[in-house]
Amino acid sequence: MGAALLDTVRQARFVPWLELKLRADRNQARALAEALEGLGAISVTLQDAGDEPVFETQWEQNQLWSQVQVTGLFPEQTSIPEVLDSLKRHTGITTSLESRVATLPDQNWERTWMERYQPQRVGKNLWVCPSWCAPPEPDAVNVILDPGLAFGTGTHESTALCLEWLAEQELAHKTIVDYGCGSGILAIAALKLGAAMAYGVDYDARAMDTSRENARRNGVADRYHALPPESLPTHQRADIVVANILAQTLIALAPRLTRLVQPGGLLALAGLLADQADEVRAHYAAHFALETRARGEWVLLAGRKTTDGD
Ligand SMILES: C[S@@+](CC[C@H](N)C(=O)[O-])C[C@H]1O[C@@H](n2cnc3c(N)ncnc32)[C@H](O)[C@@H]1O
Repeated sequence: MGAALLDTVRQARFVPWLELKLRADRNQARALAEALEGLGAISVTLQDAGDEPVFETQWEQNQLWSQVQVTGLFPEQTSIPEVLDSLKRHTGITTSLESRVATLPDQNWERTWMERYQPQRVGKNLWVCPSWCAPPEPDAVNVILDPGLAFGTGTHESTALCLEWLAEQELAHKTIVDYGCGSGILAIAALKLGAAMAYGVDYDARAMDTSRENARRNGVADRYHALPPESLPTHQRADIVVANILAQTLIALAPRLTRLVQPGGLLALAGLLADQADEVRAHYAAHFALETRARGEWVLLAGRKTTDGD
């Protein structure tokens, strides 16, 4: 239980590290994670502190487990009492924080993380390869990716569902919007599979930077445009819109995503769990005939726009 939520690695050195583990309530965990990053943690991980099934994982504004273990990894010389003091100042948490500190032996953390992320085949001919690995099939369609600080390595089930679905579509001459682009993985895959133009929309500036860099790395930068949601022109329409975000965000964005898809175009929604599918579908049912695909507990809703309206 307790898959890692947020796992960013900024640097790596062969020195011992201090691991600070904090137990927090759900409503404190994200603020603590952000504060730990701000205080110099080289990695921050959120895990289930109890034994609850994960009911909503990943990403910005969603819920976490009721009790969360927040782990920050710090350089050996860090003063943990000072970190704890600063944490309280930064987060406004006044209660005592249940914490444990351990010294971890020499390890190359970057290597550990890189070893976890390996080339991945999607469908027959599409591969997602980390930028530090040689593509196993050089003649296949290879998306070379460095997720940087943005989400989207292709290893998450909902990203894999979107990639599989994209790989089955007729993409030639098509314009794609990847709403919630993260690393740009979906937009870049679509371009490498033959789409004419892709827009990556994300409200996180790091995602826009990372996705532009990944588009450049894949030789598709001239056909890729990263932009924040407010810069997407209201009259913009796309042949295909893919949004791998979260159930509640997909519901909130229903009018916007509906309008974005041109009549007869395709929509794929992911980032939702099986028991959220009906609720999300209901917000799109007036304009789309959506089919369901699942991978583990994750679901993709995809289908064609059946109306001219929005
Ligand atoms: C789960 S990640 C998906 C990344 C990538 N598209 C993939 O499939 O792996 C969701 C992304 O959506 C972005 N996001 C979440 N809510 C958003 C919103 N309301 N508007 C724009 N971007 C949003 C997040 O910053 C994050 O990069």
